[in-house]
Order: sequence, then structure tokens, then C-alpha cells
Amino acid sequence: MKLLTLFLCSIFAIYGTDGCGSSCCPPVEMISPCTCFVSGDSPGSCDLDCSAVDDEDHLADIFQRELPCKNFRALQIWDNYNIKRLSAGTFSDVTFEEMNLWFGALETVEDDTFSSMKDTLQMISFDMQKLDDTFPFHIIQTFSNLTVLDLTANKIHNFPENLSSSTLEVLALAENRLQKLPEKPFNLLPKLNAVDLGRTQLKVLPKDLFINNPNMQYVMLRGNNIKNLTKDTFSFSSNKMEWLQLRWNNVGLVEEGTFDGMEGGFQKPAYIDLWDNRITTLDENIWRPLLEKEVGLLMEDNALVCGCDVAWYVNMEEFHHLVHDAVCVSGDSLNSLDPGLFSDC
Ligand SMILES: *[C@@H]1O[C@H](CO)[C@@H](O)[C@H](O)[C@H]1NC(C)=O
Ligand SMILES: *[C@@H]1O[C@H](CO)[C@@H](O)[C@H](O)[C@H]1NC(C)=O
Ligand SMILES: *[C@@H]1O[C@H](CO)[C@@H](O)[C@H](O)[C@H]1NC(C)=O
Repeated sequence: MKLLTLFLCSIFAIYGTDGCGSSCCPPVEMISPCTCFVSGDSPGSCDLDCSAVDDEDHLADIFQRELPCKNFRALQIWDNYNIKRLSAGTFSDVTFEEMNLWFGALETVEDDTFSSMKDTLQMISFDMQKLDDTFPFHIIQTFSNLTVLDLTANKIHNFPENLSSSTLEVLALAENRLQKLPEKPFNLLPKLNAVDLGRTQLKVLPKDLFINNPNMQYVMLRGNNIKNLTKDTFSFSSNKMEWLQLRWNNVGLVEEGTFDGMEGGFQKPAYIDLWDNRITTLDENIWRPLLEKEVGLLMEDNALVCGCDVAWYVNMEEFHHLVHDAVCVSGDSLNSLDPGLFSDC
């Protein structure tokens, strides 16, 4: 069968037509102003760049044509501010594995827009568009192979209720004004591995965020206004956590047990990034268990008082390579403090 396919492919190549599934680009004039090129990521399949289409009707017009092959790897459309809507029918029976629409004015996606590609779509990445709460999040569960949903920098104001997928691994909703999260927002995403909620104006995290996410590895919460981390905030059920990014928040209160489940040394060292927060003390019960598991701490720009609470740390030089850029309010580097100063503690 493989030989036959190869044989047919070479015939088509000789005659200059295209008919070998995803490994061939349609004739240039048929898809212009879209351009087709062999995918750098996976040789043998094709990507389309349709950044130059006039608007959504123009895009639909191209996909209605009798294209000799209809299965592409990726669609990319960059810097096109005329496409406002992707309707049911826009893509006709054409399929993609990845959709990358970056920088634009996309406002509306209909429920059936992707009905031709329910089994092929692996990545939806609509960044820096104008999508709002009307985005049809309920269709996510109908895709059989979707692993990435990236809607960074849109106008979504409510975290989607009941977001459900048995395949989704990466969810990025950064730079949307979410302000709060519902209870157990990731409960129906069992394969979730990375979540980006950076700069979404969160103040409070609901409890047990990751209790049903055994694959969590990257949690990005930078640039919010989170003040308290309590022992039931994360409830990591994963032993793969590698990167918990909390930089640029206002974290002052950290309860014992908050980071239970963070383990270092699984594949790469794990890190907790607390750069630019309001941490004042280094409670041994909270931080020592992490350091014993080789979890690195990024601690620049906090407000460490460096009183007796850090004595245990100052005396444990073997941990010093794990705590990065911690500076006391006095201006002294935490790692350079003389243990003798703490003899009365
Ligand atoms: C699902 O996606 C994977 C890559 O993530 C790919 O190897 C596989 O062929 C896809 N399955 C289907 C049915 O398209
Ligand atoms: C989400 O699920 C709950 C419980 O099953 C249900 O009451 C609610 O209507 C659902 N919300 C949406 C938007 O589907
Ligand atoms: C954070 O914890 C402090 C001290 O327990 C409490 O007074 C405050 O209300 C908490 N803030 C939030 C937003 O939960």
C-alpha cells in the first residue's frame, strides 16, 4: 500500500498536479493569495498562510473551491484585522491539524465552524484577537484529538464553565480579564499538563485547583494580584510539577502544605517562581521540605526580614544553590549572611 502511494505520488509529481493527500500543495493560482508550503515541522505535509485574504468571505471562497487535496497541517493568518467571524461553512470540508490566527480582530466563532476537522484538530491558537465569552467552549469536548487551546490576549471575562476534554493538555487564557475562577475549573480536563492564567487579574484562587490533574507540569499565574496561598490552594495530585510561576503577585501569606506534591528531580529540577512578591519570612516547615526535594526557589524582590526565621536556612549551606536572588530588606544577600549572627536564635 505504501509503495502504491509512493508510486502515485511520483506520477502526480511528474504531471505537476496534486492529489496525494496532505503531502501536496494545490496549484498556486487556485489558492492565491494564500500560499502553501511544505511544513518545516513535519516534512510531507503542507501549511497554508492566508494572512493576505481580504476578509472572511474571501477565505470561505477559497475553501469552497475544488482543491485537489483538502487536508493540511497548519493554517496561519497573521496581522489580518478584516476577519471578524469564522462561520459554519468557512472551511467547507477542508481540514487542519493546527490553526494559528495571531494579531487580528476575530470576534465570533460559530459552533459548527470546525465540523470538518473534529478528528484532526490538535491545536487552536487564536492569540491577540477580540474573542469574548461567546466563544463556543462547549465544542471543545467534541474534538477527539485536541491538545492545545490557546486564547491568549482576547476579551474573555468569564472562565468557561464545565470546560471538558479528554485530550486537552495545554490551556492558555492569559491576558483575558477573568478576575476569578469557578470551583475546580480544570476538573474535566484530566490530561491537562500546562495552564497559563498569567495577567488575568485573579485575586483569589479557589481551593483544590489541580486535584484531578495528575499530569500537571507547568502552572503559570504571573502578574495577578494573588495574596494568599493556603494549604488547599493547589492540591497537586501530580508528581510531575516542574514550574509554578507566581512572579509579580502580592503573595505574603503562605501556609504550610501549600506546595505539597511539588517534587524535584523527576525529569528536570522543579522551580517555584516567587519573584517580586511580599514574602517576609522563610518558615522552615514550609520551605525546608521543598529544598530537601531539590525544588528551586526564585525569590528576588521580596521583603525578607531575615530574622531568626531564616537561621535554619543560613546554617544549611547545602540548600543555598537552590534559593536564587533572595535579598533581605537590609540589602544583604540571604546566602551571604554569617551564621554567627544567628547564634542567639
Ligand atoms: C492525534 O494527534 C497525534 C499528535 O498529537 C497524531 O500523531 C495522531 O495521528 C492524531 N490522531 C488522529 C486520529 O488524527
Ligand atoms: C455546568 O454543569 C453544571 C452541573 O452539571 C450545570 O448545572 C450547569 O448548567 C453547566 N453549565 C453550563 C454552562 O453548561
Ligand atoms: C489573606 O489572609 C489574610 C490573613 O489571614 C486575611 O486577613 C485576608 O482576608 C486574606 N485575603 C484573601 C483575599 O483571602
